[in-house]
This record gives sequence, C-alpha cells and structure tokens, in this order.
Amino acid sequence: MKAFKINNNITKYIIGSSVDQVTTNAINIEGDPIDEFKLLYFTIDKNKIIIKLNKSDAVYGLGATVRGINKRGWIYESFCTDDPIHTENKTSLNWAHNFILINGEKQFGIFIDHASKIKYDIAYTQNNTITITLDSNSFIIYVIEDTNTKNIVCSFRKLIGTSYIPPKWAFGYQQSRWGYKSLSEIQQVVEKFEKHQLPIDVINLDIDHMDNCKIFTTDPENFDNVDNIISELKQKNIKLLPIIDAAVKIDENYNIFNEGTENNYFCVDSDKNPYVAACWPGKVNLPDFVNPKVQEWFGRKLKFYTNKGIDGFWLDMNEPSIFYTPKELNKVIDLIIKLKDEDIDTDKFFAVKDSLYNLLSNPKYYSEFYNYDGKEYIRHNLVHNIYGMLMIQSVYKGLEKIDSNKRFLIFARSSCIGAHRYGGLWTGDNRSWWSHLLLNIKMMPSLNMCGFLYTGADIGGFSDNATEDLVIRWTQFGIFTPLFRNHSAKGTRHQEPYEFENIQIFKEAITMRYALLKFIYSEYMKSALSNQMYFSPLSFDYSHDKYAKTVEDQLIIGNSIMIAPIYTQNSIGRYVYLPENMLFLSFTSWNKYKFEVKKLGHNYIDVDIDSIPIFVLPNKMLVLNQPALSTKKIDDTILFIICFIKDIAVYELYDDDGETKKSININNIDLRIEISKIDEQIDWNIEKSNSCKINKINITVFSDKGFIKQIKEEI
Ligand code: GLC
Repeated sequence: MKAFKINNNITKYIIGSSVDQVTTNAINIEGDPIDEFKLLYFTIDKNKIIIKLNKSDAVYGLGATVRGINKRGWIYESFCTDDPIHTENKTSLNWAHNFILINGEKQFGIFIDHASKIKYDIAYTQNNTITITLDSNSFIIYVIEDTNTKNIVCSFRKLIGTSYIPPKWAFGYQQSRWGYKSLSEIQQVVEKFEKHQLPIDVINLDIDHMDNCKIFTTDPENFDNVDNIISELKQKNIKLLPIIDAAVKIDENYNIFNEGTENNYFCVDSDKNPYVAACWPGKVNLPDFVNPKVQEWFGRKLKFYTNKGIDGFWLDMNEPSIFYTPKELNKVIDLIIKLKDEDIDTDKFFAVKDSLYNLLSNPKYYSEFYNYDGKEYIRHNLVHNIYGMLMIQSVYKGLEKIDSNKRFLIFARSSCIGAHRYGGLWTGDNRSWWSHLLLNIKMMPSLNMCGFLYTGADIGGFSDNATEDLVIRWTQFGIFTPLFRNHSAKGTRHQEPYEFENIQIFKEAITMRYALLKFIYSEYMKSALSNQMYFSPLSFDYSHDKYAKTVEDQLIIGNSIMIAPIYTQNSIGRYVYLPENMLFLSFTSWNKYKFEVKKLGHNYIDVDIDSIPIFVLPNKMLVLNQPALSTKKIDDTILFIICFIKDIAVYELYDDDGETKKSININNIDLRIEISKIDEQIDWNIEKSNSCKINKINITVFSDKGFIKQIKEEI
C-alpha cells in the first residue's frame, strides 16, 4: 500500500499492486509520496473498504441510482447495466459513479478509481457500517477532506476536471419519441409546435432514422431527404439530434461493419474472433473503444452527420447493452422446443420465463469477451465500467477534430466519472410513473456531486402510458433541469404537449423555461466553471439544520432559488420545509405570479395544476428574460428581476456567445446587480460589461414585509 498527497485536502491511496490496476483515467495526478501515513476514515480488509458511520451520518453521491439522495440503507452496485425497470429493489442501473460523500460529525468524500464492479453496502447489512467490495485486492482510493459538503464536492470536482459545457441552444426544449417513423412525421411534429406556438429548439431522431438500425446510415425510404430537412428546420431554429448506438450490425454489405472487421476494431471472444452479441439491429459486434485506434475511427465517422449540418448527438446502448447472445438464445430455444408437447408444470414454466428474462443484460456476457488496449487483451469485465465513457470520449474528441472551437451537444446514457468532461447524461429508461418523477428530482444533485451537470430525465416517462397531469407536473419540474427533453417509447401513449387537452398549461410551463433561460444558463455556467452544484440538497446550504438534512423533494438551484415540485397525482398543493424565511412565488405565466413571504418552518403551499412554485432565498434574486419560441430569439435587451432583500443582495449574470469554446470564461459577468436595504431605504447599483446588450431592467423588490418597491431603469 502506498499513499500520496495530491494537495492539502486530497490523499490518494494505492492499495495492492499497482500493476493490476485498471483505472478510469478520471484523474491523472501522481501526487507526492507520503512516507508515513495512516488510513483516513476507512480500513481495508483484502478487497473490502470499511467505513464506520455515526447514527446520524448521511451518505451522498453515486450519481444516478435508485432510492434517495441519502444512500443509507441499501446496496448499490457499480456495474453499468441496461436495466429498463428502475425500481427500488434494483442495485445496478446504467452507471458507475464511484464517489460517495459522508455528511455527519466527520465530513469527507471518497472516490474509488476502478474500472470494474464495485459493491456498496451502505449500512444495509450492518446499521453503522459501509462495506465496499471490489473484485480485486488492487485499487485506488482518493480521500477528499474539506470544511463542508459543498467544499468537498468542489475539491473533488476540481480534481476530476471541468464539467462538460454544451451550446446555449441545448438549454431549449427538446421533443423526442422513439417511433417517429419518417421525416414527414417529424415535419408534422414541427407544424404542431408552430400551430400552438410552443417553444422548441431540438427534435431528436431515434433509431427509426437509421437503415435497419445500422449506425452512421439513414433509412433510404423514410429519411432519404434528411439533408434538406436539416437545413429547412435550421431556418426555423430547430435542430435535429440523431441517436448513435454503440453496436455495429453484422452485415457484409455495410461499410462500417467491413471497416471494423478488416481492422480488428471489434471486441473479441476467447478465440480472438469478433464477439457476437445482439442489440436493436439483430446480431452485432461491439466496437472496442478501449483501443485508441477504434476511438479515433469512430470519432471520424461523425462526419457522416456533421457534413449534413448536425450539431449534436445522443449516444445510447453504451453499457454496452446486450439483449442476448446467439449462444444463450439458442439454449432457451432448445429448451422451449424440448418442452413443446409436454404438460408444463409451474417449475418448468418459470424456468422458461426466467431463462428468457435473463437473456437481457446478463452480466455473464461481460466475462466472455476481451478488449485490446493497444498492448494486450483485457477481459471485458475488468474495463466494463469505462466502456460507455470511452464511447463518449471518442465522440467528443472526434468532434474536436472536426471543429475544435465549436460546442456540440453530446449526451449519453451509460458512463463513469470522467465522462462528465465530454458530455451530459440522461437518466435512461424511466417509466411514466409518479415515483419516477420523484426519482428524477433525487438523482439530480447526486449526479452534480459526480460532475454531471448537463442532465435530465425523459420528461413524462419513457415506458408506459403517461397521464396528462403527470406530463404537466414533470414538465413543470423539467423547466429547471439543464437537459429539458420529453421522450417516450414506441407503443406508449403519445405525450407531446399538443396531445393533451390543456395545451395552454404546457405552453406556459415551456415558455417559463424560455423566460428562465438567461438565469439557467448563468447558473449552469457558474456551477460548471467553479466546480459547484447546480442542484443541491437542502443540507448542503443549511448544514446545521437537522430537519433540512432529511428533505429530499426540494432542491436549491445555484444559490438563489429553491424549488419544491409536485410529484403526486391529484395533488393541489404540498408541504414544504423552509430553513429560513423565503419569498414564495406562484407563477401561472412567466409574467404573472402571486407572492407571499413564507416563514421558516413547515408550510403548506397551494399548487394548482397550472402553477409553478419558486422560492427566492433571502438576499437573492430570480432573473427572468423576455421569452421566445426558440433560444436564438431570446431578447437580450431587457431583464425582469425579483429580489427578496434582507440587507444586501448581489446577482452576477454570466453570459458568453453560447456557441464557441473560446468564449467560455468565468470572468464573463455580463451584469452585476447590487441591491441594498438600510432601514426601509432601497438602493441599487448596476454595472454592465462592454459586451452586455441589456438596456432595460425592471426590478421588483420584496422584503420580509412583502412588496416594497418597483425599480425601472434604463442602463
Ligand atoms: C433505449 C434508450 C431509449 C431509446 C431506445 C430506442 O431504450 O434508452 O431512450 O428511445 O433505446 O433507441
């Protein structure tokens, strides 16, 4: 065992032999060797890390998983799995985000840099113990110490590098559905958005756009005219965003398959033949993203789309997802044939049912094939959790070669920490369930801790039929998530906003997002560039408030506002917990709201189906802009600010061109607004940068006593 000092806050431990390490490459710092060291906060027992907890310690982190923000009381496994049913009995979903944060008498973070399976028993087997089990005795741990949870996350995020920054248009509304089967169907979607004056920036192209699900192809019949439609829609400020799956269809008349085969670009079985799995197109080979040459090759292929004018990608099935292998499927078929004329009793029936069910994402596949890292073959399960990240990285780097200064939109399904630098993430195949709206709320801060900021869930739920009220409430929460996309599965009830009776409610909610655009972009950029949380649990800001620590259905955004979404059916309001007095705003339209100062403690708020609750924190401001039908059309000249003043409030609005990487700079503060209150006297000071286009500001000031002043300024 060796220890290294990374800096004053961070210690790295190499446990076991460093030769056997397969790491994620999330961190590339050696650190200074420490001669005499002790293990901080944990002990090691062979392949186990043991951490003792106090009764009231909360455990955060692990990115997108089932259950709560506080992970105490369950087993979680990091082993990227395509599981389309995110119920609370599950242990592994699509991700491997190996950062945990202990918040109690002692506060510290732990990052395990390891590319294969890790099991976290978080006070499940033993009340006050975390036992982390790895599949080897050799691994690397980083311990991150700091003064509070926010600073621990900040130190960790600094260590793993700046989070991915999308273009500004990526903060607009995205409409998606698996099953838009032709370009004319997509044009009809656009027409309906236009007819109802619903803002939109992006329409996603799911697997339907490909020729038999072959990646880097388009369906010659139904998507033949795609180049023209891309430029036609660009005129309307709508972008098409295609999906790219990881696997390559086995088909001798398919150039990608032939290139991959000729160059040995696919994962291989123990005889060094390309490993045959199955996914959407039927039998497939898996590009070996561990091989740097394959990464480059895949990255170059993106020109297929960028030459058509495509500016963003949605990456999928990169766990890698395996529906079945022909070998295992044949075993099941043989079993069924054998039973054909038999009187099938319960045991046999369930044997057949389970063997079919167990074909999808069976973990045993991952020990049957190998990756080549340029030097040697590695059994896939040792690198399983980095496969998804490597696909994202190859796309990011490929696009960098195509245009090094342009910000492309990239978001993906499976990943480990490290991928947060190359793209965003959507939370996979959720369901049109109220519990999954709540799960979406809980996943957001956990992902932020692990560096993933550009995130969101399938609004309305992916599988199963959605009800109107669910899609409304989910959209009303979704207006705050950086990735704001309504997506659903083939065969389910259509859930585009215009499919329901109350289109106006959807229109108000989506328009509200466009009115929040400058604020959301500013909060996002500041969080990304200073390694802060965009969504925090209450306990991060109110660490000494015992009750705040238990609240998991309210989130702080940046450090200005708190949201308390509705996530139960037929509800007309909800209880909220306020750690201090806050200004409660209930918006029925972006420029129409009721207000009330709510006092510290438990409060009930009315939230009718058409209203969006927002709380402004003391000495903070909410910034609204004039909305538009697309992000490009947002009026940059006027701002509407709502301030809840105690004594002095400052808001700094970040902005840049939203398109280039060069324009990104933490010092790009377009506007600085300072409002102060001495006795009942309100003063204000506004400073703007040279490039700032804002020339009118409308500030509404509230204090504990309610409304106090309206300020209209030409600046
Ligand atoms: C996967 C994705 C889903 C997509 C579907 C078809 O299930 O998670 O979003 O619609 O594949 O491509």
